[in-house]
Amino acid sequence: MMSKHEKTYTTQANFMLHGGDYNPDQWLDRPDILADDVKLMQLSHTNAFSVGIFAWSALEPEEGVYHFEWLDEIFDNIHKIGGRVILATPSGARPAWLSQKYPDVLRVNENRLKQLHGGRHNHCFTSEVYREKTQNINRLLAERYGNHPALLMWHISNEYGGECHCEKCQHAFRDWLKEKFDHNLKSLNDAWWTPFWSHTYSEWSQIESPSPIGENAVHGLNLDWRRFITDQTISFFENEIVPLKELTPNIPITTNFMADTHDLIPFQALDYSKFAKHLDVISWDAYPAWHNDWETTADLAMKVGFINDLYRSLKQQPFLLLESTPSGVNWHNVNKAKRPGMHELSSMQMIAHGSDSVMYFQWRKSRGSSEKFHGAVVDHDNSSENRVFKEVAKVGETLEKLSKVVGTNRTSDVAILYDWENNWAINDAQGFGMETKRYPQTLQEHYRTFWEQGISVDVITKEQDFSGCKLLIVPMLYLVSEDTISRLKTFVANGGTLVMTYISGIVNEHDLTYLGGWHQDLQEIFGMKPIETDTLYPNDKNYVNYHNKTYQLKDYATVIELTSANAEGLYQDDFYANTPAVTSHQYGEGKSYYIGARLNDPFHRDFYKGLLKDLSLEPAAPVKHGKGVSVQVRQDHQKDYVFVMNFTEETQPVTFESTVKDMVTGEEITGEITLEKYEVRIVEKNS
Ligand code: GAL
Repeated sequence: MMSKHEKTYTTQANFMLHGGDYNPDQWLDRPDILADDVKLMQLSHTNAFSVGIFAWSALEPEEGVYHFEWLDEIFDNIHKIGGRVILATPSGARPAWLSQKYPDVLRVNENRLKQLHGGRHNHCFTSEVYREKTQNINRLLAERYGNHPALLMWHISNEYGGECHCEKCQHAFRDWLKEKFDHNLKSLNDAWWTPFWSHTYSEWSQIESPSPIGENAVHGLNLDWRRFITDQTISFFENEIVPLKELTPNIPITTNFMADTHDLIPFQALDYSKFAKHLDVISWDAYPAWHNDWETTADLAMKVGFINDLYRSLKQQPFLLLESTPSGVNWHNVNKAKRPGMHELSSMQMIAHGSDSVMYFQWRKSRGSSEKFHGAVVDHDNSSENRVFKEVAKVGETLEKLSKVVGTNRTSDVAILYDWENNWAINDAQGFGMETKRYPQTLQEHYRTFWEQGISVDVITKEQDFSGCKLLIVPMLYLVSEDTISRLKTFVANGGTLVMTYISGIVNEHDLTYLGGWHQDLQEIFGMKPIETDTLYPNDKNYVNYHNKTYQLKDYATVIELTSANAEGLYQDDFYANTPAVTSHQYGEGKSYYIGARLNDPFHRDFYKGLLKDLSLEPAAPVKHGKGVSVQVRQDHQKDYVFVMNFTEETQPVTFESTVKDMVTGEEITGEITLEKYEVRIVEKNS
């Protein structure tokens, strides 16, 4: 954090990648279509293609019978036009012969129901046969294409996720637990608080994964199961890449991460902070529901910004947008087409936050099956003349002018902490409001004011070093280990500013509550202690008066007892009227703030405006703009690359306070310009 970053060419390419999932295996009996693909690729200004993702049955139609000729040709065709191949391992979906012959590759669901063959992403991560079969096909791919000049990167499987509850997985889980608890069943019983409802285990073999038809009330079990699922998925992934590391040590490895779509929050089921350590490059698939009817374009753009800053921060280096749609998808409730201009705007937003690519699902629309209406670069009309194709080509032309941006990062003095384990534990907690916990959404609310002002934020995870940042925000840090508490203490003692909120510091890493009141170290940092958390109904009204202004609160209000902190804001109503709602405290060289209630956007704006002023933190680029315009910056040692994006449906004035150069048109700009609806300008200036 803080210091400017060296450029990192994560994929070794020094140009922006533009392309997407290419599934020629669906068109092998149509050489005319495959020939058209090559022409259309050139017309669309694309240069990189993820190939083979779901091609296992084309590569190995029968056990041990391989057909690579078609893929050889695809590699060569892409190479001839100067393109690059991101070669996928095919484990995301398997041929029917494999499930038929080796049924233990099939998943068992949480109700202990064995799944049939079909669909995808549905294999057992523990199955030895599946591990062997995937490693075998991966080895053959690496042997055959490892030295092909078009090979750029490995795309491992596709969107890992899900879980299996078969007997093999139960054994693996028990082994994982034995290792974690040092073969001491009493330690496990203590950590999981199993005397509750007489759930004490007297044999390891009694432990079963959580299930709606069995155990689901032991929170320590639920939490460890989620951790195991992450580790088991990573172990499957590690098994996949053994031959690739051996045969192609210089080819970078990625797998595509996801987001949960309606609220565009980080994917919940796997702890990506752990997974990230096993990847060379982070990449993710972004499918925001642009033009939806429940939020403004700017609100949605803010959420896209948040998740990008999280995925970028996982490795503190540029990431890749590996899938997006050039227009609509096929799986939202309403699959709306991107309006003119939105494709370029939304693509450039990804670049602005650290992506070195714009890639699509998919290159060409399928003719049949469930994805035949999903947006693609090439539609069923096979034309380069339709609106979507032309907008894709325009994005390609813009990306060609942004090579200098590749490898650059963002510089942040502000960090917000996101923790997957905390999210699992908080969602499991039966208490507070069952539907209002909304931990990731709460982080977005804190992020919003920085996004609006063009102040770069790293969204970090708890293992990451936060000692260098000036302002660290840890909303709703319900699950927190003593180790993290002590790091927070050192951070503030050494001069950092820390913001914490309601429902923080409640349980340790086993999901066991801290006893004897709030943790002593937290009390020292904050000079206060939370005494009681009140949960509100949606129609309950209460307010906080903060620095002589009144702000509405909702959902949660913590009753606070002060020791040495200052009350900065007071509750206005209820049995805690006139008691502290927001506090500040000087601790060591630093300062801490506790926000006791879930407050609204106007509060966050004013509250953080004050902190930014105290800390002399300024927007990364001197650009004046109104609401709904986002200004985001990537930097290298010489230049700032400034993305000015209009996420509103109106024209917007924007003022450049110093002279900048438009990277697309080459024009020099000073002073005021007008951005049309959805327009984006990308400018460079000396830093
Ligand atoms: C992704 C998946 C792709 C495609 C896409 C459709 O989740 O990786 O294969 O199905 O969704 O939006």
